[in-house]
Amino acid sequence: METKFIDLRSDTVTKPTKRMREAMMSADVGDDVYGEDPTVNKLEKVSANLLGKESAIFVCSGTMGNQIAVKCHTDIGDEVILEASSHIYNFEMGMMSAFSGTLPRVIEGKNGFFDEEQLVKAIRPDIYYLSKTKLLCLENSHNSAGGRVLSVEKSASLCKVAKDNGLKCHLDGARIFNSAIAQKTTAKEIAKPYDSVMFCISKGLSAPIGSLLVGSKEFIAKARRVRKMLGGGMRQAGVIAICGLIAFEEILPTLEDDHKKAKLLALRASKNKNFKLNLESVETNIFMIKVRNGNSANYYVNRLKEIGILVSLNSSDTMRVVTHKDISFEDAEKACKIFETIN
Ligand SMILES: Cc1ncc(COP(=O)(O)O)c(C=O)c1O
Repeated sequence: METKFIDLRSDTVTKPTKRMREAMMSADVGDDVYGEDPTVNKLEKVSANLLGKESAIFVCSGTMGNQIAVKCHTDIGDEVILEASSHIYNFEMGMMSAFSGTLPRVIEGKNGFFDEEQLVKAIRPDIYYLSKTKLLCLENSHNSAGGRVLSVEKSASLCKVAKDNGLKCHLDGARIFNSAIAQKTTAKEIAKPYDSVMFCISKGLSAPIGSLLVGSKEFIAKARRVRKMLGGGMRQAGVIAICGLIAFEEILPTLEDDHKKAKLLALRASKNKNFKLNLESVETNIFMIKVRNGNSANYYVNRLKEIGILVSLNSSDTMRVVTHKDISFEDAEKACKIFETIN
C-alpha cells in the first residue's frame, strides 16, 4: 500500500483543486502568442489590478518572471544588488549572468533583509570606468530566511534609497500574499514602490503552473519580447491561467490558515529538547528548525520520513518546514505530536 506522507517540504507540492480541474475543461482559450487567449488576458488584467500596476504578463515560472525582469531592467555589465540568500542569486542557475550578463552584488542580510546603510555602501559611484549599479532586487516573503516578512515601511525606505541613486527596483514576491496577510496589508501596498513584481500562483495558491510579472505598460511590452526569447510564449495557456483566477477566489481567502498551521507546528517543535526555534520568527507559512546536541539535520529529515513526514534539509543543522492547503489541521496535529517527541 502506498504511504501517505504529510508533505511539509514546500507549498509547491499543492495540487490543483477540484474546481480548478473542472474549470480547465471548459476554459475559454486562444493563441496567447497572438494575444488571443481570453482567459490569459483576464488573468493578466486581474493580476495587474491586484498589484496596483498598469500591466501584467503570465509566465511559466517564478524563475522565468524574475529573470525577464532582470533582463528588462539592465544592460550587459551592470550590477544588481541582492540579499546573499535570495532565490534569484542562489537558485536560478546563474541566469542573471548567463542571460542578462549582469554581475550580482550580494549583501549579507539579517533574517533575509539588509538595511539602508548597507544598500548605500553597495551602490557604485557613477564613474565611467565602474560597472553601473542598475537594479535592486528584494524578496518578500523571504524563502531561505524562513518565510520572513519585509514591512511596507522598510520596503519603501529601501526602494527610496535605490531610486534616489538611479536604480530600478524589482520584487521577487513569489509569496507576496503571505507577506501581505502576515502584515495585515494588501499585496498592492507592498508592490507600490517597485517598478516590477513577480508573484507565483503555483505555490501556496495551489495552481499547477505559472507566475505573473507586473509593472508599467512599457515594461510589460518589453517583457513580452524577452519571454518569447526564452521560449516562454505559450499558446492555449488559458487552460492553466484559469487556475490562477480560481486561486484568487478559492485559495487566497484561506491562505492565513497556512500561517496558523505553521505557528502550531513551530510551537510544538519548540517543546522538543532536540530542537531550537525562535517562535517570533514564524511569520508566514515557512519556518526553520535548528537541531541541537550535535545531531545533523539530515538525521531528523530521515527519521521523520520513516514516520511519514517530509521536511526539507536546509543546511547541516537546519530543516525547513512549509505548510499549505494540502496539509489539513488534522495532519498538522499529527505532525505536531511527532515534532514534540521525536528523538
Ligand atoms: C522566493 C522564490 N522566488 C522564486 C522562486 C522560483 O519559482 P519557480 O520554482 O516557479 O521557478 C521560488 C521557488 O521556490 C521562490 O521560493
